[in-house]
Amino acid sequence: MTRIDMKPSGAGSAVVVRGLVKHYGETKALDGVDLEVREGSVMGVLGPNGAGKTTLVRILSTLLPPTAGQATVAGYDVVRQPRQLRRVIGLTGQYASVDEKLPGWENLYLIGRLLDLPRKAARARADELLERFSLTDAAKRPAGTYSGGMRRRLDLAASMIGRPSVLFLDEPTTGLDPRTRNEVWDEVKAMVGDGVTVLLTTQYMEEAEQLASELTVVDRGKVIAKGGIDELKAKVGGRTLRVKPADPLRLRPLAAHLDGLGITGLATTTVDVERGALLVPILSDEQLTAVVAAVTAQGITLSSVSTELPSLDEVFLSLTGHRASTPQETEPTDAREEVAV
Ligand SMILES: Nc1ncnc2c1ncn2[C@@H]1O[C@H](COP(=O)(O)OP(=O)(O)O)[C@@H](O)[C@H]1O
Ligand SMILES: [Mg+2]
Repeated sequence: MTRIDMKPSGAGSAVVVRGLVKHYGETKALDGVDLEVREGSVMGVLGPNGAGKTTLVRILSTLLPPTAGQATVAGYDVVRQPRQLRRVIGLTGQYASVDEKLPGWENLYLIGRLLDLPRKAARARADELLERFSLTDAAKRPAGTYSGGMRRRLDLAASMIGRPSVLFLDEPTTGLDPRTRNEVWDEVKAMVGDGVTVLLTTQYMEEAEQLASELTVVDRGKVIAKGGIDELKAKVGGRTLRVKPADPLRLRPLAAHLDGLGITGLATTTVDVERGALLVPILSDEQLTAVVAAVTAQGITLSSVSTELPSLDEVFLSLTGHRASTPQETEPTDAREEVAV
């Protein structure tokens, strides 16, 4: 296999995307996307439904031709070198791709054979990966009988058969319960520890936070922000402190008081009337301490205090000025009411 090294730009980058465009008729699924993924790193592509994430992954894994622009994976061009490219990537799609009627072991063995592994090597690889993803006990059961988490683990195992150097994970935990989601995160972290480069798409800030070192935020086919996680979080106001006064009547005066002190983050304090809580944007531990001290100084009794990462919706609102909601997933926006400073 000859490998054409074309790295004028993007040396040390496993994925290089330049001006990538994909149109479906009138729909601009990708509208000039640029991104680079460093070798051995995890790039999170964060965006709501319909942002273009799956389209990007499908183009990068040669399943779909771009309308315009360029992309290389491990130095191979997605359009001109699809066969070589496919040999060095692994793909876990948004929807499970295993054969439900076949046992887990059989699924892995067949993929090994499809990848030209000799019988003995395909058998050994199937055994090894079932063990690695804690599926040995379920090896002989049809994949259709697996739980959601086991299915995802089988998907991940399948994508690792060819020992890929670049792995694409399209929304690896969407639809999983929180416990299973944590299991999958642990597996992905272990895979990254083995040195594979990962590009993963997600709708969850928390998932990006758990897995990715860098983020590219996409919306309507465009990159709207990129950078390190901390950088991005600072941009959107870091964490949110959720303060719940025992007496809900104290909510509004307290919000006005806090904003008046000028000690909180970039955004204003939000009153969540439904849950009887104040959402205070904070950028640092010092601000957090100052806010709690200011509340205490007012003599207000609190029934709970917690911090949370910004939700994807908050990230979007902050970056784009519009909510990340889609027609299928419109969130009620009237539960929170902005308090003017
Ligand atoms: N095969 C297709 N034909 C027409 N439109 C499509 C097709 N696939 C995706 N789209 C549209 O392209 C946009 C991006 O879709 P997609 O890449 O699936 O986004 P995401 O994975 O971020 O949810 C959406 O508006 C979607 O409706
Ligand atoms: Mg998708």
